Formats: sequence, structure tokens, C-alpha cells
Amino acid sequence: MIRDDFPVFKNNPDLIFFDSTASSQKPSHVIDGLKEFLENDYANIHRGSYILSERSEKLYIDSKKKFANMIGAESWREVIYTMNSTYALNLLADSLRRSNKLQKWDTVIVSIVEHHANIVPWLILKEDLGINVEFVGVCDDYSLDFEDFKNKLDETVKVVSLTHVSNVTGQIFDLKKVSKLLQEIYSDTKPYFIVDSSQGFPHLHTNVSEIGCDFLFCTGHKFGADSGIGILWWKKDLLLDLKPAFSGGGAIAHVTTDEFEPAWLPDKFEPGTPNISGGVSVLRALEYVEQIGGYDKIEQIEHELTYHFLEKLKDFDGMTLLGSRDAYERVGVFTFAIDWVHSLDLADFLAEKDICIRAGRHCAEPLLNNKGMTHSCRVSLYIYNTTEEIDIFFEELEKAIQVLREV
Ligand code: ALA
Repeated sequence: MIRDDFPVFKNNPDLIFFDSTASSQKPSHVIDGLKEFLENDYANIHRGSYILSERSEKLYIDSKKKFANMIGAESWREVIYTMNSTYALNLLADSLRRSNKLQKWDTVIVSIVEHHANIVPWLILKEDLGINVEFVGVCDDYSLDFEDFKNKLDETVKVVSLTHVSNVTGQIFDLKKVSKLLQEIYSDTKPYFIVDSSQGFPHLHTNVSEIGCDFLFCTGHKFGADSGIGILWWKKDLLLDLKPAFSGGGAIAHVTTDEFEPAWLPDKFEPGTPNISGGVSVLRALEYVEQIGGYDKIEQIEHELTYHFLEKLKDFDGMTLLGSRDAYERVGVFTFAIDWVHSLDLADFLAEKDICIRAGRHCAEPLLNNKGMTHSCRVSLYIYNTTEEIDIFFEELEKAIQVLREV
């Protein structure tokens, strides 16, 4: 059973962990793999001619090769490691600025459901450069509003940056339709198409050439790897075209007192000593995905859980669900508010029962504001969850509501 691969559940037998959208738990393959790496192979990379450094570097590059292969990238040299998704987009946005790809009056399109990571870096450029940031709405079923999107596509649009899956609604955006539309409308002058796959890659087959995007980023800690390692995939031609926002040791070929020459790809975008063990944790996490049957298996397990949760919801009154009720359109991320109960009180009540959910605004304030909600609870599921846990959750939820409505 997949759950048995995650020691946290053996060590905390009553734990119901429903906060994997924030960070997933780690399988033994990653935990043991990291220990083995740190005990046997760790050294700084790119700098040592000794065997330990070579072994360390090989594993770091192997992890990029595996990720590149999984997303259908042309080369591992298109894969840049960053600290997390937020850093990935900040690096990208600032590199676009430094390369004069974004200027005053240019437009960046995002959607109203974006995580702050895909909003704030653009708002910084709005403040600094005077670009426009436009927000596309969502339809009643929480899919991207393509009418609104089309209306916003004019000649000022230089970047379209959209989430693959919302960290609030769980909705899967039709990104192939987005790239097709951009191709039809713009042909050669197509805006850069950036995909935030932080909540997509952990749950779904993700292929950059099928999607038709130019950049895609995600973060290790949401798919079983360690925290502190983000991944930015970037089409090679565009990598050659852009100047890195940051540089320093490891990212340069030559330096004089006057100037410097950047290193070859992808090192020129990774200044300083990278998170080497984080890279190895990505390798082990991706190996684990393969061991359990790949994304076919992940999608099957998660679809069953999502369906079960939505079925239980049918009998539930007084809940506002911020998301679609169609299990085929979404992943198992459920954000909701309960009439007359504060979300923080509810999360605290459930925490007493060892049920971990998240309450608040989920780093997506524009969406919550748009829906007139000041707070909400979020349940997020992953491969190790079970339908029994969902049943217990709903029983405890009923009890919590009774108690909290009385106080
Ligand atoms: N971005 C993470 C979340 O949605 C932390 O919870």
C-alpha cells in the first residue's frame, strides 16, 4: 500500500494529513536516498576534480535528466534549479526585465486564481517599469473564461502566465487551448507562455511540448522531494536569448575587473552553490513516482479520492465550495467555507483530532476577494490518502460545526 511507503504515518498512526498542497509528505525512498547521498557522495559540484565531487555532480545532473525526460523537454540543460516556485518566477520575470523583453505599457496576462507567486513578481514590474497586469476571470464552473481571455489579447501582450492547476479551486486549466489560441492569434509574435505547474506536476501527466508553453516551473516539496528546491524549465532558444537576473560564482565563464562572460547553460542561471541534496531529493522523488506506476497510477488514485470527496459533499448543507463538482475537471484540492463558522476555528477544532487542513486565504487573495470571501478552509489530498480518512473527516466536520455554531 502506498501509504506504507511514508514513514510519517507509521510514526503518527492517527494522523490525517490533508494539507499536501502546502507540502507533501516524503516517501522512504527519498528519505533513505538523501541519507545515503549525504553519507556517501556529498561534495560541492562543478568545482572539484576529485571523485566525490564528480559523483555528487552526476546525481545532481541525473535528477535534471529525469525531470527533463518526464516533462518531454529536449535537454536537461533546459532545467534550472531554484529555491522554490516563487524564486523561479522572480528569476524569470527579472531576467525578462533585464533583457528588455518587458517595457512600459507592455501587458502581462495572469488569471484571477493565481497564487501570489504568479502575481507579485509582475506587480513589481508594474511598479518599476509601468507594465500592465491584466487578470482573466473564471467561469461559473471555475474553468478559465476564454471569452474574457480572448478580449484581452491585443498587441501589447508580451507574457501570458497561468497556473496549470489552482491551489485553491483544484481546477485544471485547459492550457493546450491557451497555447493554440496564442499561436492562432499571434503566429510569430506570440507572447511568452509561462505555466505555473506547482500544483499540476505533483498530480498530472505534464508534457511541455503537448502543452505548448515556453516556460514551466514547479517545486520539489509538493511531490515528495525536499523543500528549498524549485524547478524552472525553459526552452533552450529562449534561455540563450535572456540575460540572467543574478550572477556570481558558478554562473560565469570569465570575469575581469571590468566585465564578465556568463557560463554555458544551465549554469548561467544558477549562481552560487546550488541545493545539491535538494536536487538529489528530486531524483529520488521522481524514481518513486516511477516505482508506483507513474502518473497513470497517481491520476487513478487521486481521481478516486476526488470523486469520493465530491460524493460526500452532496449530502452536506451549508458549505460554499470554491470549485467545480466535476471530478474530471479538477484535482483533490477543496476550498470551502461553512455558514456561521470561522475557518480558523474549524481548522483548530480538526487539528485537535489530528486532522491537518489549511485555513486562511491560501496565498490567493485576489480570488478570495473576487468571490467575496475573507477566509476559507482547504483540504488537499495526495496519493497516500484514503477514502476512510475522507469519511472520518466528514464525521468530524459535522461534530465541529455543531460545537462551533453553539459557541
Ligand atoms: N503554496 C502553498 C499552498 O498553496 C504553500 O498552500
